[in-house]
Order: sequence, then structure tokens, then C-alpha cells
Amino acid sequence: MSQDTRYVDPDEIDHNNSANESFQSVLQARLARRSILRGAIGSAATAVFGGITLSACGGGDDDEPAPLKPLEKLGFTAAAKSLADQVVVPAGYTASVIYALGDPLTATATAYKNDGSDADFENRAGDHHDGMEYYGLSADGKPDAKASARGLLVMNHEATSHNNNERASAFVHINGGTNTLPRPAAEVDREVPLHGVSVVEVRKNGAAFAYVKDSAFNRRITPLTPVTLSGLGAGSGLMKTKYSADGKTARGTLNNCGTGSTPWGTTLTGEENWSLYFTRGAADDAARGNDKSVASLKRYGRNQGAASRHGWETGGADDKYARWDISKKGASADGTDDYRNELNTFGYLVEIDPYSKTSAIKKRTSLGRFAHESAAFSKLVEGKPLAVYMGDDSRGEYIYTWVSAANWAAADANPTDRIATGDKYLDAGKLYVAKFNADGTGTWIELAIGNAVIKAATNYAFADQADVVVNARLAADAVGATKMDRPEWCASHPVTGEVYFTLTNNSHRKVQPKDDKEFGVDSANPRVYSDSYNGGAQGSPGNINGHIIRVAEVAGDAAATSFKWDVYLFGAEAGADKGLVNLSSLTEDQDMSSPDGLWFSRATGLCWIQTDDGAFTDKSNCMMLAGIPGSVGDGAKKTLDYTSKKVDTYIGKAPTADTLKRFLVGPRDCEITGCAETPDGKALFVNIQHPGETITSATVSDPAKYLSHWPGNAGYGAGGPNARPRSATIVITKPDGGVIGS
Ligand code: FEO
Ligand code: CA
Ligand code: CA
Repeated sequence: MSQDTRYVDPDEIDHNNSANESFQSVLQARLARRSILRGAIGSAATAVFGGITLSACGGGDDDEPAPLKPLEKLGFTAAAKSLADQVVVPAGYTASVIYALGDPLTATATAYKNDGSDADFENRAGDHHDGMEYYGLSADGKPDAKASARGLLVMNHEATSHNNNERASAFVHINGGTNTLPRPAAEVDREVPLHGVSVVEVRKNGAAFAYVKDSAFNRRITPLTPVTLSGLGAGSGLMKTKYSADGKTARGTLNNCGTGSTPWGTTLTGEENWSLYFTRGAADDAARGNDKSVASLKRYGRNQGAASRHGWETGGADDKYARWDISKKGASADGTDDYRNELNTFGYLVEIDPYSKTSAIKKRTSLGRFAHESAAFSKLVEGKPLAVYMGDDSRGEYIYTWVSAANWAAADANPTDRIATGDKYLDAGKLYVAKFNADGTGTWIELAIGNAVIKAATNYAFADQADVVVNARLAADAVGATKMDRPEWCASHPVTGEVYFTLTNNSHRKVQPKDDKEFGVDSANPRVYSDSYNGGAQGSPGNINGHIIRVAEVAGDAAATSFKWDVYLFGAEAGADKGLVNLSSLTEDQDMSSPDGLWFSRATGLCWIQTDDGAFTDKSNCMMLAGIPGSVGDGAKKTLDYTSKKVDTYIGKAPTADTLKRFLVGPRDCEITGCAETPDGKALFVNIQHPGETITSATVSDPAKYLSHWPGNAGYGAGGPNARPRSATIVITKPDGGVIGS
């Protein structure tokens, strides 16, 4: 069956129809809930966590970073919901644009004209700013984790604005670009480097921040940048391509969504919807002899006949275009004469040393291949393994954790070779997937070739552990992991060490699923309801607004194989039924839909929640909220009564006006994503992704048809009130110099 995924929202594709999990059985297994393990807040507060103790190295002074001072009460007046084409922040705060699509990154690159005529995006900011991390620099330009006046932002450029029925990225071409095939090479060459990652220096000048156009640290990493495959997948037969006969290298990174910052000062960037960019021939199943690669390709969203998102494979004969066609074309047995295995070289957390242009960029294959979002580290304990938590964003996909084989050594917070430190913690270890039980407990199930269930799996014949991590979704299917409502970002609470996961929404969650494309309610994904958008006519019932689930490892141990969970917040409109929908009793100052970005401040402990929504956008553009959560088990069990079925769930203590407030609302047709701060907590960097993304090539000529003109309409860059919209980074400060949120 052919499938053309150009015509669907990339975040709505590829949902997990595997038949592994029966929610009925989970429900029938409902047990009396044992008391919740509470986070050891008192003793945990002083523990080393994440990157916060990364000390000055090579030139900065030796002061420790400012200690975490958790805020006990939000100190600002909530931002009202807004449909304006501007960024809205609370009174007493300033939001300034500092780095937008097309901004030049070298001394010689010209100012962005923003009329579709600029090219050379290898030397400019990419599109769709997404996950972001901050790395301090001392006054003399050396790594300094406590530096707040000068630093590097490492930023993902996830995708590019284009109509889902079209191929061209309309705003970056003068006349909107070519939507028929073949795509002109010049257009492809312009669109490819819109994707990837930026490293860009930012500096404070007086009270204001700006990016440094000619910084020697600035660089772009694109889908064509050489990268090293590291970990279990490296050198596997699954990775051999015409580009890399030994399967140890690959080209570039793609559809980078969330990020994580390692305790040793590098960035992990998550490759999310990479699969969409590749095409596969209509008769490729037979060309492959219907071997097991077909099951893998289907599970990762590439049925035979799948069209690519942009048609980049048609740019010409050059290998840089050919690699986007993953059909088996060559006669070799091992795939070294074509790109049949190219899809296996994407779908990882990719490690980048922000401070070094010469260090290898490494895809950490051992942590599994899926639609990665962010990466959250466990609390670090000297002499114990560390964990990395991860989500896989598609409907019904899973939550994973990685436990390092190496035990944490504090000296590794300040290494001479940061990527070698990554080798130590991110190549050898164990990969687990989450099963959420109906009694509020959960289990991490190891994805190991030695697991008899995986060895005997009927959905895919796993050859070895490399095959397991490269086909992690299939292994997770086999062991019966819990299908979640689209896991987006995760983040670790800097005090409790508990891990929070946004589950953005799932329109296919149903009380009574009618086929294997739908998912039955379960305790961890318990809601099904109608949206009020268009008087309820917007869509059929499902979990429209999403929720945020959180996990407490037993005894706070990163290597624990069991956990307790509850739901920190259920997204909802304030007016929705509190019995089945607004279960967290959100008020007008707190209501939100489709939580996506999630990040904890290491300065204030605040939980920042960002939305990527289409269900509440009749009432407000996408937004960001600040929360002060408690801990797993601080609320109560609740039974949802759907008449035909009853479901127990566990809801965290309801927020108050002091512990959850809307902080920011973005311009029209955008998503709020990416959050980073200076170590003093006084500057917060946030990304505004794809304002006015709803565009066709034909309407680019008419600015009156744009849904947004931001940030041109805010006075940033060329174009003024009629500007083509641009994804951009903003910096939020308090003119009184205070800590953000206080
Ligand atoms: Fe790129 Fe799932 O958000
Ligand atoms: Ca996102
Ligand atoms: Ca998204």
C-alpha cells in the first residue's frame, strides 16, 4: 500500500498500530495502589544535578555556578490569552528578538533581505528554531559554565514552513518555489541547510543581549555535515551505505526537535520526524526480496511508495540528492552501492561539543532510534550509573530510558575532551522502555537481545543488540510497552530528580477503540473528550489537550527498574468539565492545550511548559507557562467514569495561583519551544517557531494573506508590517535586573 505523508502534519504521522498492548488487561489488572514514593526533597536539594555543577575550565575563574534557589511562589501577574500577532509577556518583563531565520553568522554574510532572494543558509540562521541550550563563555572566550554575560546558544532548526500539500518552503523563495518534480537544484540547496543546528554566540551589552555576527564560535551543522556513528549501531551492516562502506559515518542531522545538555558540557540534539524526508519506490518491498528491512521501514513510517516531504531526491544526479531516495537500487548484498540503509543513520540523539568546531559530532546509536525529542539526565551520584530519559513523538509511541554502564565520576564534569566523555557514558549501557501500570507503578523493561521475548519476537527477527537499538520501536512493541499520547519533551526536576514528560495530545485515544488505529484509555492516558473549538465540531473525541506525566524512580535510583507515576497536569480549557476533562482544575490564568516543550530552570527550579497546539488556538495563540510542581503522589487517585468503562488515574495536587501561571503568549500561527537561561537566571531565551507557517507558494506574493508578520512587525529585520514571518529566538529580561519568574 502506498502512503504519501507529505499531506499530513508531520507530528501526526506514523502512529503505532502494533498489537502488543491490551489496555483491557491493564485495567483488569488494576490493583490497590500502594503508597507513593515521595521524592527525598530535603536530602536531594544539595545533590549534584545535571550540568549545574560544571565548573569553570580553561580560563574562567573557579567560582561555582550560582546555587539553585527554588522559587516558592510565582512573582508575576499572569499573561492573558492573546490572539495578537505579537509576543506577550507579563508587566515588568521585556522580550527582545535576537536571532531570526536568515540572520548572518559570518562577518561577510549580508543582512537577511527576507524577500526570498537570500541563499547561503549554511552561513545563516536556519528555520524553525526549536530546542536550545546555553553554554557560558568567560570574558576571554573560554568555557565557563557560570558565565551569564557571554555564552553560546546551541539551537535546533527543526523544519521549514511549507504547505503540507506542497513541497517548497514558500517563504525562502522569491515566488514561493517549485512544487512540481523535479525540484530545481538551487531550491533544494537552499532548503536543505535551513535544517540542522546553529551554534551562535550571544553577549550582554548593558542590559541588552545580542548575537555576535562574526564570532569564531558561530557555525551551522546541516543535513550534509559529516557525522560519526557511535555506540552499538556503528559499523553494523544496518548502517552501510554508498557514503560509508564501513557503516561508521553518515551525513548530517535532520528534523532536530528537543535538546538535552550533558553534565560534561555538550548538547544532545534529538532527530524527530526525519523519516518524512525520504522517498521509497513503489515496488521496493519486492526489490528487497521482502526481507526484514521491510518490516523496519514500515514501522518507521516508510511504506513502499512513500513520497518525500520536499522532493529533494529530484535535485539532480549528485549523490547529495540521491541519498534522499532509500529504494534498493544497487546489486550489492550489503547496501554499499545505494542508500537502501540511509534511514537507519537517522533517528538518534546526536552529541555536539558547542565549544569545539573540530570535535567529532556523534550519533549516540545505543540510546535507540526513534522520533527523539529532548534528553533529560538523572540526578548525578558519584560512583553510580546515570540515566538519560527520552520520549518518542508519534501517537501511541513510548517513553524510554538509558542507563550508562559507566559510573559517574565528578571529575567528568570538567573534562579536557567532552566528546570522549560522551563515549564513556553514552555508548555502553542498557536501553529500557516504560510500562505504566494501572496501580500507579511502572516498570522499565530492558530492550536486550538476551530477553527471551525479543529473541522470539514475531514482528521482527532481531539479529543482535545493534539490531535492537536501531529498531527500538519494534523491540518495544515486542515487550508490551505502554502506548502513550505522543511523548514530547522530558525534563528532570532539579530538586526531586523526578522526570516529567509532556504527552502532547492524541486524537486517536478512544474509550472504545474501533480498530488498531485507535488506542483504548488506560490509567496513564485516561482522557477522551470533545474539543470546544467550533462548538465541538472541530474533531472527534480524543485526548485533545494532552497532559504531563511524571515519574519517580524507586529510591531515587537512576538504575531502578520500577517507578511510581502520576499526572502533574492535565491540559484543558478552564471552563471544561472538572469531572472528566479539566482534572487539574486549571483557571483562566492557567488553561492550556498540547504541552510540548518542557524545561526546568537550574536557577529557580521553575518548570517551563510550552505549547504546540491546534485545539485551543481559537482562544489563544500558543503559550508558555511557569509552574512550581510538587512531587509524585502529592495528589489523589481519581476514577473516570465513561459509563461503558471506568478508569483509575492519579492526579498531582491541583496548582494554585501561586504555582502555575501563563507567562508568555506568542504571535499568530506559531509554536513556543526551546528554553535556556543564563546561569544567574536573569535572562531566559525562548524560541518562537514558525509564526504564520500556514502559507502556500501562490500566496507568498500577497502579504495580506500571511497569518503573521512577526518579527518584522515588531521592528526586527527587513519587511516591517508586511514582512514574511520568521522563526526567531527572543530573550526575556526584567528591566529591574531580577530573576525571571520572581
Ligand atoms: Fe518537534 Fe514533537 O515536536
Ligand atoms: Ca515540538
Ligand atoms: Ca511540533
